[in-house]
Amino acid sequence: MIPTPHINVAEKGIIAETVLLPGDPLRAKFIAENYLDNPVQFNSVRNMYGYTGTYKGKKISVKGTGMGMPSIGIYSYELIHFYGVKNLIRIGSCGSLQKDVKVRDIVVGMAACTNSNYANQYNLPGTFAPVASWELLRKAVDIAGQKGIDVKVGNILSSDTFYDDDPEDWKKWARMGVLAVEMEAAALYMNAARAGVNALCILTVSDSLVSHEATTSEERQNSFTQMMDIALELA
Ligand code: HPA
Repeated sequence: MIPTPHINVAEKGIIAETVLLPGDPLRAKFIAENYLDNPVQFNSVRNMYGYTGTYKGKKISVKGTGMGMPSIGIYSYELIHFYGVKNLIRIGSCGSLQKDVKVRDIVVGMAACTNSNYANQYNLPGTFAPVASWELLRKAVDIAGQKGIDVKVGNILSSDTFYDDDPEDWKKWARMGVLAVEMEAAALYMNAARAGVNALCILTVSDSLVSHEATTSEERQNSFTQMMDIALELA
């Protein structure tokens, strides 16, 4: 069934087997224009831009996912099931839940807790633990080590809410050792698990719920560059 309802690509080979997934479609455009050779735009439905180009000669795509689990759930499902994508690497931002996870740090999501009901669709007789692909996780940590980039690896929270009714809720996740909060990884990890493909989530810390610090967009650039160095090498 291609083109799919949300990606107007009529042929399978146009999207690479490895796709980088920022939330912001304009970030996808920026990455395509600044990091890929010969980028060609493949999607414009809902302005959720996607591009395919090459990096060091290897074919790679980059596509916006939008915010939240339903949105990344749709795009990752279509990429996996209709376009043959095998490696899905989310690159995004997160809020720190721990004192020693500072703004501008890089967090790699080994697993993703969630307050969402996304897993309900699988009718499991219990709860599911969404985890990253071990292959991608190990490779990302190796690459970071080789490049001298410090990364914090651990559990993250994929929240359905950015504005919580109880502003103290995050502390309950923090005391379980969860490093940071974002809004997409758990759905990505579940879609990948169900389909038997690989997913990983790499994040820069844009703000801290602990210290209430936030980064400016200029300050974010350096950690964004480091995150991109890891993601592109991984691809
Ligand atoms: N909450 C949820 N998602 C986020 C945050 C946050 O504080 N910061 C960046 N992404």
